Amino acid sequence: MNERVPPIEVENLTEMREASEDVGRNDSDNPTMGDIINRRYSRRGFLRGSLAVAAIGATVSPLALSAGRAQAQEVSSSFDFAEVAAGVDETHHVAEGYDADVLLRWGDKVLADAPDFDPMNQTAEAQAKQFGYNNDYVGFVPLSDAEDRGLLVVNHEYTNAELMFPNFAKVVTVTEEKDGQQVETQKVEIGEFTKELVDIEMAAHGGTVIEIARDESGKWKPVLDSQYNRRITTETEMALTGPVAGHARVKTNADPSGTKVFGTLNNCAGGLTPWGTWLTAEENVHGYFGGALPEGHREELNYKRMGVPGGWYNWGSFHDRFDVSKEPNEPNRFGWIVEVDPKNPNSVPKKRTALGRFKHEGCETVVNSDGRVVCYSGDDERFDYVYKFVTNGTFNESDPSANADLLDDGTLYVARFDEDGTVEWMPLVHGEAPLDEAHGFASQADVLIETRRAADLLGATKMDRPEDVQPNPKTGKVYCMLTNNTRRKEGEENAANPRADNAFGHIIEITETDGDFASTKSTWEILLKCGDPSVAEVGASFSSATTENGWFGMPDNCAIDADGRLWVSTDGNSESKTGRTDGLWAVDTDGEARGTSKLFFRVPVGAEMCGPYFTPSSETLFLAVQHPGDEGLATYEQPATRWPDFDDNLPVRPAVVTVTKQGGGKIA
Ligand code: FEO
Ligand code: CA
Ligand code: CA
Repeated sequence: MNERVPPIEVENLTEMREASEDVGRNDSDNPTMGDIINRRYSRRGFLRGSLAVAAIGATVSPLALSAGRAQAQEVSSSFDFAEVAAGVDETHHVAEGYDADVLLRWGDKVLADAPDFDPMNQTAEAQAKQFGYNNDYVGFVPLSDAEDRGLLVVNHEYTNAELMFPNFAKVVTVTEEKDGQQVETQKVEIGEFTKELVDIEMAAHGGTVIEIARDESGKWKPVLDSQYNRRITTETEMALTGPVAGHARVKTNADPSGTKVFGTLNNCAGGLTPWGTWLTAEENVHGYFGGALPEGHREELNYKRMGVPGGWYNWGSFHDRFDVSKEPNEPNRFGWIVEVDPKNPNSVPKKRTALGRFKHEGCETVVNSDGRVVCYSGDDERFDYVYKFVTNGTFNESDPSANADLLDDGTLYVARFDEDGTVEWMPLVHGEAPLDEAHGFASQADVLIETRRAADLLGATKMDRPEDVQPNPKTGKVYCMLTNNTRRKEGEENAANPRADNAFGHIIEITETDGDFASTKSTWEILLKCGDPSVAEVGASFSSATTENGWFGMPDNCAIDADGRLWVSTDGNSESKTGRTDGLWAVDTDGEARGTSKLFFRVPVGAEMCGPYFTPSSETLFLAVQHPGDEGLATYEQPATRWPDFDDNLPVRPAVVTVTKQGGGKIA
């Protein structure tokens, strides 16, 4: 995320965004794993264009095995597709025999009366009817048994002003003193924000509901005149529901009831419920607030733990509610899971406070064998926690309306991963020590508003940035993406986070006891330690059948396909870090092939890979390409790529891509 109190000078905006997960900062100067890898990959050139891709493809060979791996038994992946060559260039690549088609780009019409995208003359009013920026979570609610028509729901997590607005950011050369010498450095300098630009940013956040259908040729297309199409923005009216609704700590001047909130922020990953609603997760909400809390304010401790005010955006200069000196309670109204009914375009989205307030990466659900619904959510920050929520009521398959408020009543648990391979799910319930008055919790609402502090007191395990947490309904397993944590020092390792300076992340597999997703005592093991397995210092654990294209770093989102198989998308791979862009990898979890990974799709330079989402039949895969072109000194005028249009008159644009098999059939 951008830290953008103008004017701002940074060398690389991507690195700044990564620093957003950095509240648990370790300021030591020890060389990091990233430094070792930078040295390795800095020898490679930046490869552009299809010729360069062909060159990579021509050199594909079985992985040069490190000593320990040379003896490993060769096994083959259970995935059939021909692997894509890892690398970096200006466009996307999908496995041979599949089509990857751009479905919706930033600025495309969502509502029938939206104006055509005109980036030189963009307005907030136009943006509020057009596809938003930085698509992240994608879900699909079928409207037909044939799965040829349905509602696509998409999160718009954040905005890159330097790539969105013409004549706004520029590359400047500055002279700085370093080690007693004058050194010239190039930086991106951002211009001055006006209310008009801020309002465009606010309208580009939130989400989209749009009907899509397959045409005669089988290609997916938006249905612009659909009654369902909807943009959700930072201005959309929402309701706070559950234990926190109406509490004094969520009341503001504009909302003395403490129940009515405008908008949703930083919607990262999400999930669909069994009853067809969309859960959109508010992640780095702290960055939108500026100003300073009044001295001695009761939220001081709470906001410190959440990093409020982050001051990345300067919306507070134009909208009082984003200035904590004027509206000190407003940040308590963000950081929730928001439930949206995509089939009812007039419905008021509900912030389900029973699921806790933290930097929710996503919210994936499963119906337990006893009918209760279990929702998993990671808190994406270095040294934060893994959670699950279990409803008290049970899912009613025959009457969707009976599930309408299921998520308002239940128990939130936080995970403690023990050395003996068990995981203890600890309830966050007010009344029992230490979640009591003596520790500043007067009610369950207090526990939920300060979920992180409550989980600290219970002794939850500090993780390496929990991202997606995905249950597999077919196996009773749960996959937890831990993206990286280079701030974990030697001596701070634990069994579930075994690497200090964890630059490439890992994946934990939880086995819920007897397939009971509501279990409070389960077991866990590490499925994969990520990174380049040919570099011994990395300590990666991909199977020996994994090729040099098949390994990845920084797992982020994931999905389970129709056959119960795991697919993992990444955020943070680049030429300098891993010699490859982000992408989507198919990962075996069972049998001899366990730990084998294959590259299926890769993004253009600068992007991260979001989504992924399979239709129930697995015949279509939806992928979100987020922040393409955002690499190095990228600006509107000089992005690292002009994907997907490759038109000098158009900016680089985040977009959702559909993947289908040529001739039809399951993605395998
Ligand atoms: Fe928005 Fe944790 O990624
Ligand atoms: Ca993410
Ligand atoms: Ca991410």
